[in-house]
Amino acid sequence: MNVAELPKIELHLHHEGAAPPAFIRQLAHEKRVDLSGIFKSNGSYDFRDFSHFLNVYEAACQVLNSPEDFRRLTLAILEESAENGVIYSETFLSPDFCGGGDLSAWKDYLSAIQDAAEEAERKFEITLRGVVTCVRHFGPEQSKRSAYCAAETAGDWITGFGMGGNESVGAQADYKWAFDCAREAGLQLTTHAGEFGGPESVRDAIRHLGVERIGHGVRAIEDPDLVHELIDRGITLEVCPGSNVVLGLYPEFDSHPIAKLRDAGVKVTVSTDDPPFFHTTMRREYEMLHQAFGWDAEDFAALNNTALEAAFCDDATREKVKKRLEKQ
Ligand code: HPA
Ligand code: ZN
Repeated sequence: MNVAELPKIELHLHHEGAAPPAFIRQLAHEKRVDLSGIFKSNGSYDFRDFSHFLNVYEAACQVLNSPEDFRRLTLAILEESAENGVIYSETFLSPDFCGGGDLSAWKDYLSAIQDAAEEAERKFEITLRGVVTCVRHFGPEQSKRSAYCAAETAGDWITGFGMGGNESVGAQADYKWAFDCAREAGLQLTTHAGEFGGPESVRDAIRHLGVERIGHGVRAIEDPDLVHELIDRGITLEVCPGSNVVLGLYPEFDSHPIAKLRDAGVKVTVSTDDPPFFHTTMRREYEMLHQAFGWDAEDFAALNNTALEAAFCDDATREKVKKRLEKQ
């Protein structure tokens, strides 16, 4: 059995970060924007480290400036995900990059994205749900605008709220207002923590933001008490091993803590984060985990069950995806 062919569930994907470089180059060409500085001569995105990655990411976002761009992007992402065997995906959408935090513009972008998701579901049998994310380095005031957009569009498609961006800026607690607002609107919560911040960042996310999932969270492995707390609270980690390796957290898959976390009893899932930036796909993540840790079809089936249980969707959607998992 080739594990790369198994069906997959992905919970941690940044929408703009999933844009293929050729897609961004094409938009730059159409809009006559010079983005040559963000690409290598072989055509891939060019960045040195995490903070430079964020700069390149935001430069690419300059040409994604209409609902139509996001409609095209969403279709391209879902076609690619489906080709990699993904049957359910949650994507991070930032009102900051979809209309600059303005509610009316955000609704137009969201409507285009949802139209594309419906088309993709018909064509490729993949289901998408949206998690609105604020951007940490844009600051707490801007995060309130994102939370307001999230709350106003919360429902059976926008089902979660979270935070990405630079984990070294400010503290998790600075964003409490936004997370409280989103929780009151019925949204489920996640935040990036324990990637560039250490275990204390994961602790702060649990204490101050009350999240049920953590983006990355892998550095919890440095603190055994925290590992126990994650287990006791049933918190699920959205682990992105390939991203962590490219950004230098761990030298290679073999030294990545995902297997140790899983074996300790932490709920772990696997995602790509920003696949073309990190030269990965869900298929490659599965292949690398199989190679590094010997995970087989049974391990991946358990991984998918954990992901489906932690998915921010309603139970009818969960059932639909479960049937799709069982069919394959
Ligand atoms: N990590 C944190 N913030 C981000 C990322 C990421 O991979 N992509 C876009 N914003
Ligand atoms: Zn991320």
